[in-house]
Amino acid sequence: MPLPEKNNRVIITSALPYANGDLHIGHLLEHVQTDIWVRLLRANNITCHYVCASDAHGTPIMLRAKELETEPEKMVEEFRSSHMKDLESFYISHDNFYITHSEENKYFSELIYNRAKESGFIESKHIEQLFDESAGLFLSDRYVKGTCPKCSAEEQYGDNCEICGAKYEAAELINPVSTISGQKPVVKTSEHVFFKLSELETNVASWMKATPLQEAVKNKLEEWFQQGLKDWDISRDSPYFGFEIPDMPGKYFYVWLDAPIGYIASLENYLRAKNNESAEEIWSETANTEIYHFIGKDIMNFHALFWPALLETSKFKKPSNVFVHGFLGLNGAKMSKSKGNFLSMRDYLDILDADYIRYYLASKLSPSIDDIDLNYDDFQKKVNSDLVGKFVNIASRSAGFLKKNDNQIGTDIDHEFYENFISSKNEITNLFADLEYSKAIKEIMKLADSANAYVDEKKPWILAKDEKNKEEVIKIAGTTINLFRVINTYLKIVIPDTCSKGETFLNEIISSIDDIDTPLTNHKLGSFSPILNRLEDEKLEALIQRGSNG
Ligand code: MSP
Ligand code: ZN
Repeated sequence: MPLPEKNNRVIITSALPYANGDLHIGHLLEHVQTDIWVRLLRANNITCHYVCASDAHGTPIMLRAKELETEPEKMVEEFRSSHMKDLESFYISHDNFYITHSEENKYFSELIYNRAKESGFIESKHIEQLFDESAGLFLSDRYVKGTCPKCSAEEQYGDNCEICGAKYEAAELINPVSTISGQKPVVKTSEHVFFKLSELETNVASWMKATPLQEAVKNKLEEWFQQGLKDWDISRDSPYFGFEIPDMPGKYFYVWLDAPIGYIASLENYLRAKNNESAEEIWSETANTEIYHFIGKDIMNFHALFWPALLETSKFKKPSNVFVHGFLGLNGAKMSKSKGNFLSMRDYLDILDADYIRYYLASKLSPSIDDIDLNYDDFQKKVNSDLVGKFVNIASRSAGFLKKNDNQIGTDIDHEFYENFISSKNEITNLFADLEYSKAIKEIMKLADSANAYVDEKKPWILAKDEKNKEEVIKIAGTTINLFRVINTYLKIVIPDTCSKGETFLNEIISSIDDIDTPLTNHKLGSFSPILNRLEDEKLEALIQRGSNG
């Protein structure tokens, strides 16, 4: 897959985390995957806007605020600022981290709804739903449990049976119970607004054909097309924390209607402040813009089905791609707070540097949507052997040889070796561009091996014993430092903090991957200090402890 066009505007997003809980390392996986791609583009001089936000609306948010005896507006703002802080601490380089409960998002939600309505894709119908009289709430499927109408299994949710796989309506459950109040709900009729997705199949299908989606994403879409697309219920009854639908007092947009619109709103908020540009123009159907969404596999339907359909009917541009990843598990099991197998981002940061896990996650990521596991032993081994043992080692074993030369790289380096060393630059760039991070990391580590083998073969520590080899030793060390610089440049998109320390040592800020086309000669280095320490057993132990406390 080629990188986006240099002349196009490029917008990149990660999914908007819900503002009712702390971020965990599963969320981090997604942001690291996105951030590496963003940094890759920037390192190739492609301007992009990386926007995200906290997702503020919906019933769970409303109930959580109630539980905490606070106002939802206040709670979501607090979570937004803690999300933002956590993500910054992992060097996730958003241009804007906004919130969906905003003026901009209200504006764009109404605009997109009104346009869909004007083009005839909105319709209202009366539907029957379960209603919890004591809580005064209509119940979505996740808030109803009962006996499966097909196989009689007990304690099943309102949409499908985990035992026999049957799909049904919540009202079909035998002995339904509200999980909010524990009471038996009643059936009540209410008017709902539907988006006519059923009439947009051809359109979404042609978007799918024209888009280089991952195989697994295409297959999922084909499956949905085969089942036939149903109209999508985009309204919820009061009480609800969200935006009221303009022409329907007491009815609110369903959170999943305004959540992806939050991408546009975050961009709007960013561009207005920056240079008063408008997201409406930049995201319009006819703009020279490329849009890339990074998401987890659980929210594929919202991004690859509903979202392109909604954008189509409102004359906004559809995604250039939707990149989907699998779920991160911890030590061989699903992450679960209640089962004591869970690591929040904050817990991790209390103990370890961000770059360790950024590197580890990168080394596991690929375009597949299979789940990924963080295995503690593997994590420690990879960090210590790759980053400390191979990468940092190249610099630490060479820096000393230039001390006598006033920390100066000489005029001459081993150009033949160097040219050969950078010949995989395009291949590595392409692997990252294709989301083949794991393969890219392997290639980079091969280079680190070859840089170390170069030093082993040249044995500068033996040559240095004789003053007459001075020039030769300076040349070998200068070459090796240049090899370190190449790897530091590649890894800068993965472990930015470590590589910025690498730059301090190199006494040079690398602005683009192409900087390595010209090696450093006659260049004074900064002083060497260890840029990354080993991940010690005690720290790993502390992390394991934290991860098993839930
Ligand atoms: N608010 C919605 C997204 C709206 S986007 C317009 C949402 N929020 S979430 O907090 O539940 O998830 C945010 C992202 O994190 C999703 O892409 C989800 O797939 C991802 N992940 C949540 N848990 C995860 C793992 N354990 N592993 C990897 N990604 C995970 O969905
Ligand atoms: Zn069943």
